Amino acid sequence: MLRIIRFSSILLLTLVAGIWAYAWVSKSPNESLGEAFANRLASVFGQEMAVPTASGGGGMQLPAGMSLGGPFELVNQAGQPVTERDFAGRWLLVYFGFTYCPDVCPTELGTIASAIDAMGPQGESVTPVLITIDPQRDTPAQLADYVPRFHPRMQGLTGTAEQVAAAARRYRVYFARVQRPDMTDYVMDHSSFIYLVGPDAKVRALFRPETSPEAIAAAVQAQQRAARNPAS
Ligand code: NI
Repeated sequence: MLRIIRFSSILLLTLVAGIWAYAWVSKSPNESLGEAFANRLASVFGQEMAVPTASGGGGMQLPAGMSLGGPFELVNQAGQPVTERDFAGRWLLVYFGFTYCPDVCPTELGTIASAIDAMGPQGESVTPVLITIDPQRDTPAQLADYVPRFHPRMQGLTGTAEQVAAAARRYRVYFARVQRPDMTDYVMDHSSFIYLVGPDAKVRALFRPETSPEAIAAAVQAQQRAARNPAS
């Protein structure tokens, strides 16, 4: 019995070392050895593997086994309740922000709109979405006034404080209300990533602030191709 355990341990060690060596030689230039190892390990042990993003650094891959996105219950800019099921089968570019944001949010929402336009007719398969992290001020009416300034099809989602917090948790979005003594109104401090959400409501890739619209468009198209041809 002991001998079998010892033999299995050696076998496992050899396998893991082999995967490590394989990761070392097969890693792509923009992949760290750790990431490469995790990805090869995941592929050997049959976990779901992140789909590679377009070459040229068009987005960050989620670490293997990490899942973002999923169910939410919110309210759209028409005041109607919506869930992730209302977007089932569609690709989304999602940003968490707020309409009173002076600079970063407008820039990133403009980037989403430009990325969709850069995709040409294929851009119609992607819905741009702003989920507010400031539901107190971002009412449906406020969002209805704001989101069309960026894109005619942009959806603005709000909800109760609890609904918004629950959605933000699913995407691991950080946000906090900040009241500065020199300002009459509060601002929201928040993380700033653009999320590419697939037809199954799961996040496929995320983009750091200041990623170019072209890089996002290329990554979206690569993800859509990968989804159409899962074997390749
Ligand atoms: Ni902002």
